[in-house]
Formats: sequence, C-alpha cells, structure tokens
Amino acid sequence: MLLAPQALRNALMTLRRGGRLVLLATVLLPSHSLFGQLSTEDHLAESTFWPTQGCESREGFVGAAACAKCHAVKSSQQESTQMALNMMPASASEILRGHSDLTFAVNKYKYKIENAADQSNYSVSDGTKSLSFPLAWAFGAGRVGQSYLFKKDDGQFYEARVTYFANLKNLGFTPSRELSSPSGIDEAMYRPVGQAEAIRCFSCHATASTIGGHLDESHLIPGVSCEACHSPGRKHVLAMDGMLSGKPGTKKTEIFNPAHLAPTEAVEFCGACHGDWWDVKLSGVKGVSSTRSAPARLVTSKCWGKGEARLTCTACHDPHQQLKTESVEYDEACLQCHVNSSGAKPTASHPGPACPTARERCTSCHMPKTYVPEMHSNFTDHRIRIVRSGEPFPE
Ligand code: HEC
Ligand code: HEC
Ligand code: HEC
Ligand code: HEC
Ligand code: HEC
Ligand code: HEC
Ligand code: HEC
Repeated sequence: MLLAPQALRNALMTLRRGGRLVLLATVLLPSHSLFGQLSTEDHLAESTFWPTQGCESREGFVGAAACAKCHAVKSSQQESTQMALNMMPASASEILRGHSDLTFAVNKYKYKIENAADQSNYSVSDGTKSLSFPLAWAFGAGRVGQSYLFKKDDGQFYEARVTYFANLKNLGFTPSRELSSPSGIDEAMYRPVGQAEAIRCFSCHATASTIGGHLDESHLIPGVSCEACHSPGRKHVLAMDGMLSGKPGTKKTEIFNPAHLAPTEAVEFCGACHGDWWDVKLSGVKGVSSTRSAPARLVTSKCWGKGEARLTCTACHDPHQQLKTESVEYDEACLQCHVNSSGAKPTASHPGPACPTARERCTSCHMPKTYVPEMHSNFTDHRIRIVRSGEPFPE
C-alpha cells in the first residue's frame, strides 16, 4: 500500500495527537478533515472495546454456536453472510475445490494452483526451475476474489503473488502486488508477510485471532463472527444464564452493543476493518481504489452533514444479514430524509430536497458502481452525489 508523503503524515499525526480533532485543524487542513474524528489506531488505543482489538486470553470467547442458543434468528442469518464466510483454511475453500487447476502466465513465469480433495498446491515455474508449496489460508468469500497465504520451512507467512478473481474466473496478480520484472522465481512467486502484518490481516478477516499479542492460528475462528463486533462473549453468556434463571443482581449485559454509538463513531466502528476517513487519508490511497472503503467515502456526502444517525452503515445494511442487491430496497433509507413528490419543499424532519428526475431506485444513479482495476470488479461509491458525465473522480 502507498503511504502519504512523510511530511503530510507527520503533520496529520501531530494534529491528531491527544485525541479528537481540535478546531485548529480547520485552519490548517481542508474542510475535509472534519469528516473523520479518529483513525482506527486511535480507537484501539482507547480502553473500550473496538473491532480488530487483540485479547489477553482465548478463554473469553465462546464462539457463534453459543450465541445461537438465545439469538437463534440473528445467528442463523449471520452465518451465511460474506463477512462470516470471508476466510477459511485453504482446504475448505469452495473456490479451490471447484477448480482442479487455476493458471496464470507472465513472461517466462507460469503459475498454477492444483487442487486435490484436501490440499491445494501452489507452484511457479520459470522454464528451468520450479517451486511448490501447499496453501494454508484463503482470504475472501469470492464475490470479488480470493487471496492465499502459505508457509515455507522457516514457519513464516508468504502471500501468493496471484489471486483468484471472480470476474476473470481465474488467477491474476494480487491487488497492488503486480511485478513487471521480478528479481527471480522467489520474488515472482510470493511476498513475505511479517508477523505484524499477518496479525493485521487475520484481525480484519477472522475472530479471536490475536491472543496476548500473538497470532493464535490453531484456535482462531475463521471469518467475522459475533464476537468480532460484540467483544468476547463468555461473561455475557454467564450473566444472561444467571438473569434468565432468576439469579438476583445481574443488571449489566457484559457485552458491547454498537447500537449505542454516536453516528460518527458508528461509521468508524465498521471502518475498523473497512477503513475510516482517517485510515484512508493516512494510507495515501486515492482515486477509484478508495471506493473499497465505504466509511471513508460516505462521510464526504453532502447528506452526511455533521453526522446523522439516519445515514450510518446500519441505516442501509444489517450486518447480520446478506447484502441486498436491488436498488429499490435502499429507497426507504433515502426517504427517511428526502421529500419525494414534485414541488415538495424540504421540512424539519425531511431536510433533503426532492429529486427532479426520479421517484425510486435512488442508489442506481446517486451511488455509482465504480470499476476498481486492481480488483477486476466494481465497488459502490458511498459518496452520495449527483453524477455528471465526464467529471473527474471526486476525491
Ligand atoms: C443465555 C442466553 C444468551 C446467550 C447464550 C447470549 N445472549 Fe446475548 N442477550 C441475551 C439476553 C436475554 C439479552 C437482553 C438483555 C437485556 O436487554 O437486559 C441479550 C442481549 C444481547 C446484546 C445487547 C446488549 C446490550 O447491552 O444492549 C448483544 C449485543 C448480545 N446479546 C450478543 C450476544 C452474543 C454475541 C452472544 C454470543 C457470544 C450472546 N449474546 C449470547 C441472552 C443471551
Ligand atoms: C472485523 C472486521 C469487520 C468489521 C468490524 C466489519 N466488517 Fe464488513 N466485511 C469485512 C470483510 C473482511 C468483508 C469482505 C467479505 C468478502 O467479500 O470476502 C466485509 C464485507 C462487508 C459487506 C459486503 C457483503 C457482501 O455480501 O459482499 C458489507 C455490506 C459489510 N461488510 C458491512 C459492514 C458493516 C455495516 C459493518 C459495521 C456494522 C461492518 N461491515 C463491519 C470485515 C468487517
Ligand atoms: C484493516 C482491515 C483489513 C486488513 C488489514 C486486510 N483486509 Fe482484506 N479486506 C478487508 C475488508 C473490509 C474487505 C472487503 C472490502 C474490500 O474488498 O476492500 C477486504 C477484502 C479482501 C479481499 C477481497 C475479497 C472480496 O471478495 O471482496 C481479499 C482477497 C483480502 N481482503 C485479502 C487480505 C489479505 C491477504 C490481507 C493481509 C495481507 C488483508 N486482506 C488485510 C479488510 C482488511
Ligand atoms: C460486522 C459486525 C457484527 C457482527 C459480525 C455481528 N453483529 Fe450483532 N450487531 C452489530 C451492530 C452494528 C448492532 C447494532 C445494530 C443497530 O444499530 O441497529 C448489533 C446488534 C446486535 C444485537 C442487539 C440488537 C438490539 O436490539 O440492540 C444482538 C443481540 C446481536 N447484535 C447479536 C449478534 C450475534 C448473535 C451475532 C453472531 C451471530 C452478531 N450479532 C454478529 C454488529 C455485528
Ligand atoms: C444510503 C444507503 C447506504 C449506506 C448508508 C451504506 N451503504 Fe453500503 N451499500 C449500499 C448499496 C446500495 C450497495 C450496493 C448493493 C448492491 O448493489 O450490491 C452497498 C454495498 C456495500 C458493500 C459491498 C461492496 C460494494 O462496494 O458494492 C459494502 C462492503 C458496504 N456497502 C459497506 C458499507 C459500510 C461499511 C457502510 C457504512 C460506512 C455503508 N456501506 C453504508 C448502500 C449503503
Ligand atoms: C440523514 C438524512 C439524509 C439521508 C438518509 C439521505 N440524504 Fe441526501 N441529502 C440530505 C440533505 C440534508 C441534503 C442537502 C445537503 C446540502 O445541500 O448541503 C442532501 C443532498 C442530496 C443530494 C444532492 C447532492 C449534491 O451534490 O448536491 C443527492 C443527490 C442526495 N442527497 C441523494 C440521496 C440518496 C440517493 C440517498 C439514499 C441513498 C440520500 N440522499 C440519503 C439528507 C439525507
Ligand atoms: C435515473 C437516475 C436518477 C434516479 C433513479 C434518482 N435520481 Fe436524483 N437526480 C438525478 C439527476 C440527473 C439529478 C440532477 C438533476 C439536475 O441537476 O438537473 C438528480 C438530483 C437529485 C437531487 C438534488 C436536488 C436539488 O434540488 O438539489 C436530490 C436530492 C436527489 N436527486 C435525490 C434522489 C432520491 C432521493 C432518489 C430516489 C427517490 C433519486 N434522486 C433518484 C438522477 C436520478
């Protein structure tokens, strides 16, 4: 990933030191900086629970099956979301099981993933030499693509240089990792992933993966499960068991409920993994690639104003359910704020003006699908706006 020029980064860091943005920032930075309060790093430095946070002990986690006992509907729905299914041991990947061979070739390098019933072998040949390793973990439910990590004899993680893309129905370069002239077969095949980076990958794609500052590969829960968003649940289960059996004295629910967050925090909560405004700013990612970060884009919409409960992520998405893919299913969310008959004027409860063009399918025109080349796929631009043909991508 590209980094912002060091000078800018330092300036931003200094401004943010000590917590929330102060008014000073409005003088020194474009008004944009008001779109974000804290970066994920800042949230993680606070004492309250925040997604991707590590834990001292694995004991606090109970797993989704334990939650299902009392929250049956939420649990059965959440299990089938892309978030829950977004990573797995390579041996459990349906994409890999569904293809006997996946191939890719660039110059003299020929890449191959060969899949047997319970193992996938990743190999590269340069015509004279070849290397081969079994894949360990698969990342990505497959709506867009799936990337792979494996280990060599040194016990370290390596990222395969190639990724499966749904739209190519085959392999391509791993996003942002394209190499035109690798130094040799090793570099052509993989990129070393250090411990700190591996911890970050797993913390966004799995649950209970960082224990005592280390990656706990053998006990992690693959995918984004209940406790990734609600904090470890053992105390809650005990407290609720007690409450339901009539034990006196149980008042606290002992679990994190994001429903109580203020609007900006609620968006930054999902941004812990999806990238909030500060995360994207500090990473230096710009242009169409930033549409992968819904939280960063959403808050730059005029609709957002200074932060609005009617426009947080959960106003449109139930994180316990599958993504709705019909534009008409999102109209209700827009019409919480927009008046919707011709000539109607905005009101106190509906501050948004009426559309002069249409009465339904609002997102189909105002949240355009944007092609992100390195992902070989479209992402939905969450910067709600009037789209003018030929305009440059609005940063
Ligand atoms: C023994 C039954 C039981 C189990 C098991 C259980 N819950 Fe609950 N949960 C409840 C009850 C009852 C409430 C409502 C408590 C109240 O409103 O006082 C609740 C409330 C919650 C809330 C809202 C808390 C709040 O403060 O508003 C969340 C979030 C939650 N549960 C998540 C989970 C998760 C995640 C798991 C699994 C780790 C889980 N629950 C397991 C019974 C259970
Ligand atoms: C612990 C990390 C994490 C958190 C927190 C998180 N997400 Fe996600 N989310 C992911 C990952 C990883 C994916 C990619 C799944 C895939 O396609 O492989 C994803 C995918 C999604 C999708 C696309 C689903 C699809 O069917 O393509 C939606 C919508 C989404 N998240 C909404 C949310 C919302 C809303 C929140 C906050 C309430 C949230 N996420 C919080 C990690 C997270
Ligand atoms: C800060 C959290 C975070 C980190 C760190 C992270 N990811 Fe992701 N990743 C996400 C989220 C959220 C998505 C879904 C949105 C998107 O595609 O950008 C995603 C999407 C993906 C996808 C595409 C899946 C799809 O179908 O949309 C792949 C593949 C992937 N990540 C692999 C990795 C690998 C491998 C690493 C580590 C080298 C990694 N990610 C690190 C949060 C993260
Ligand atoms: C991607 C993050 C995410 C995951 C994963 C997730 N939740 Fe939630 N959950 C939320 C958010 C956000 C809310 C608050 C919803 C709102 O604001 O309406 C919530 C609310 C809840 C509530 C309280 C509802 C209320 O009325 O206040 C319960 C109970 C709950 N979740 C249970 C679960 C269980 C059980 C699982 C696993 C099967 C789970 N959640 C997985 C994000 C998540
Ligand atoms: C005003 C409604 C609205 C809000 C608010 C909203 N989304 Fe979306 N989101 C959509 C629509 C519409 C789609 C596209 C659905 C489709 O056609 O597949 C989408 C798609 C997505 C996807 C799938 C990948 C993509 O780009 O198409 C992810 C991930 C996502 N949203 C995350 C979030 C997060 C995180 C938030 C909070 C910052 C959020 N969304 C807020 C309407 C909304
Ligand atoms: C929280 C309330 C709220 C929600 C929800 C909301 N809007 Fe808005 N929207 C507004 C307000 C208020 C304005 C006028 C802002 C201004 O002029 O500064 C606005 C402005 C707009 C504009 C004009 C932007 C421009 O560049 O001039 C469009 C287009 C728009 N909204 C579409 C939508 C669509 C589509 C949705 C649903 C996906 C939606 N809005 C959801 C409050 C909202
Ligand atoms: C077929 C595409 C399309 C659909 C569907 C659509 N719009 Fe629009 N909308 C436009 C265009 C184009 C404009 C700009 C019109 C102009 O400036 O002449 C616009 C303008 C607007 C504006 C700015 C009005 C103003 O007075 O500044 C708002 C707000 C808006 N739309 C909201 C919505 C909402 C809410 C919906 C769903 C009920 C919706 N739109 C559905 C294309 C669409």
